[in-house]
Amino acid sequence: MVTEKENRLVTLEEYIIQSQNRFPGATGELSQLLRDIGLAAKIISREVNKAGITNILGLDGSTNVHGEAVKKLDLFADQQLISALDRSLITCMVISEENDGIVKLSSKGGKYIVYLDPLDGSSNIDVNVSIGSIFSVYMREPRFEPTVKESDALQPGVKQVAAGYVLYGSSTIIAYTTGLGVSMFTLDPSIGEFILSEQRIQIPDSGSIYSINEGSYNSWDLGLKKYVKYCQEFDPDTNRPYSARYIGSMVADIHRTLIKGGIFIYPHSKRYPNGKLRLMYECNPLSFIIEQAGGVSTDGEMRIMEKKPASIHQQTPIYIGSKQNVAKVMEFLEEHAAVEADKG
Ligand code: AHG
Ligand code: MN
Ligand code: MN
Repeated sequence: MVTEKENRLVTLEEYIIQSQNRFPGATGELSQLLRDIGLAAKIISREVNKAGITNILGLDGSTNVHGEAVKKLDLFADQQLISALDRSLITCMVISEENDGIVKLSSKGGKYIVYLDPLDGSSNIDVNVSIGSIFSVYMREPRFEPTVKESDALQPGVKQVAAGYVLYGSSTIIAYTTGLGVSMFTLDPSIGEFILSEQRIQIPDSGSIYSINEGSYNSWDLGLKKYVKYCQEFDPDTNRPYSARYIGSMVADIHRTLIKGGIFIYPHSKRYPNGKLRLMYECNPLSFIIEQAGGVSTDGEMRIMEKKPASIHQQTPIYIGSKQNVAKVMEFLEEHAAVEADKG
């Protein structure tokens, strides 16, 4: 592990190897998998940065499994990540937002299952706003079955062995956890390496930013409407009114929440009765990161990472961020759910 007094640059590769060396029995396979994702991230980052000057920008004309328009960069990112994972023969299957069913890789005996949101926030590509990639890694269970099947991938988020995201922003960063805190690296384009920028990141216990698509206000539950009004009230003792920030790329909104604190919400609503965001490749990995940094994540009723998935592309509501902010929104939801129940 890198110590604070060391004052030299540490690359992602070096850091992963050092972390692995702390576990004498480790096979190095998870380390390899993380390095593979790091390599794909560099290639995607390069392509994202030149998207405006190549014909890769724009719609490719098809739609993904959710009926949404797919941009070329989504497909490029999907292919890069899948082929990086395929190369080292330790991943047996990938589940990606861009593929309806499971994607079986060359190594049928591979030990890991990886979920991917290859490009998150892709509607922001055209307007030069931050986008990202999200990954979530599970151990295959049962381990030695001859064939892999979709049900092997239906594991709750608490079983993730690693998760992380890449953010293609004003700089490209990668953050990941293997359950021992969150580490973050920044890409130095001049040398083509991710350099350690922070380890054991902690989210503030409370923050003064709320992040939600307020355009859907009219279709929220009463408790959520009241909570957002609470965020907007003037009360200098509790730092209110809070600031509203909503990028529309979950990965970028969560990155800001991790650093500055506050709350990100994508609730259920009349339009999205089960929420919009995907449990397995958006909410679970980002919940693992936030929890490892000391934050919390719930669907309004239970911890996101304890949800038993019923399908690989399932959606969920999410309330995620600083402990105190999430506790406060829960108070509002519970109070008003009780009022509604009394009426009903
Ligand atoms: P993706 O680009 O992978 O489909 O994800 C978009 C998601 C998420 O990143 C973002 O937080 C959310 O959609 C925004 O949805 P609204 O436009 O409904 O607010
Ligand atoms: Mn997404
Ligand atoms: Mn996506």
